Amino acid sequence: MRVKAAPAKKKSSKPASSSNGHSKKALAKQPAKAEPRRKAAGYEHETAHLFKAGEVTAAKPIIYVNGRMVPKNQAMVSVYDHGLLYGDGVFEGIRIYKGQIFKCGQHMDRLWRCAEMIRLRIPVSRDDMVTIMRDCVEANNLKDGYIRLVVTRGFGTLGLDPRKCPVAGVICIADQIALYTPDQYEKGMKIIVAKRPRTPVECLDPRLKSLNYLNNILGKVEAIDQGCDEAIMLNMKGFVGECTGDNIFVIRDGTVFTPPTESGILEGITRRFVMDLCADMDISCNVKNMRPEEVKTADEVFLTGSAAEIIAVTQIDDIKIGHGTEGPITKRLRNAFRKVVSSADIPED
Ligand SMILES: Cc1ncc(COP(=O)(O)O)c(C=O)c1O
Repeated sequence: MRVKAAPAKKKSSKPASSSNGHSKKALAKQPAKAEPRRKAAGYEHETAHLFKAGEVTAAKPIIYVNGRMVPKNQAMVSVYDHGLLYGDGVFEGIRIYKGQIFKCGQHMDRLWRCAEMIRLRIPVSRDDMVTIMRDCVEANNLKDGYIRLVVTRGFGTLGLDPRKCPVAGVICIADQIALYTPDQYEKGMKIIVAKRPRTPVECLDPRLKSLNYLNNILGKVEAIDQGCDEAIMLNMKGFVGECTGDNIFVIRDGTVFTPPTESGILEGITRRFVMDLCADMDISCNVKNMRPEEVKTADEVFLTGSAAEIIAVTQIDDIKIGHGTEGPITKRLRNAFRKVVSSADIPED
């Protein structure tokens, strides 16, 4: 299956439909001219400035939505989609390096595993999903970037019942992402320990990468309130789990430690990759339950994630980590990571 972007058509009056098509030839028709924006019964929406700034009206990137490749300003889903109404769905965040999909196989495994956990049937085959991603990368001429792949429960009724959503929705966005500033990568970042615990495994297992990220967002808001960009989240027993959007690693006396998956974390694909790098580089790496005090008194701390890659933590709350700069083992791992992702052989397994 190849899904190609529709060539710009000058005189089409039909806007792209938002049905869950997923068909091979479902190409978008572009309206000749954007509809003039009107005030709806006097309610000028607060996001109007975004429209004016071009954030929403931009045509790029080309995005896959339910069987169609459409410009960003036409990439829409129904307001009855349960992904929007209830956060009912799953997603992946994936890096593109040199036009290749980093750890594509592992991301597909996790997406299908998570979909199964919420009894969501993904309406395209695994091969077709990879084709959709490659088409988005190609349509936007991306060499290095980031893919956001979303599978929603789809269009349904206003009740929770997922049986009322006959077909899941699929969205693929290939774009750029920059979570942290270049300065933060160079000097390390300051984070906090959030007061709010991570959702317990028994309630909503953090291994499930669902569209329900409010627990993480509220942890992030705590960080923002204290002038930081990340927060460590503890589990209900007070052990360190992960950060709001990253996994965490701690280094003490030359050994690397990271919390076990049973502590209630997402099994990060970058986390796995860094553990493998440690093995290749003869750096001892173990999983271990840790209290926040143990992390704060470590020699080095760093975070991992597809979007974040590897970034040093140089302060937690008011405590400086090590010498307050990126430590030597973090630097070695970050360089090793860079070497792989800028090589001619990007691992897509
Ligand atoms: C809560 C959480 N933990 C960890 C990670 C890192 O996972 P990965 O390395 O697979 O991107 C993410 C990434 O989105 C995340 O959202």
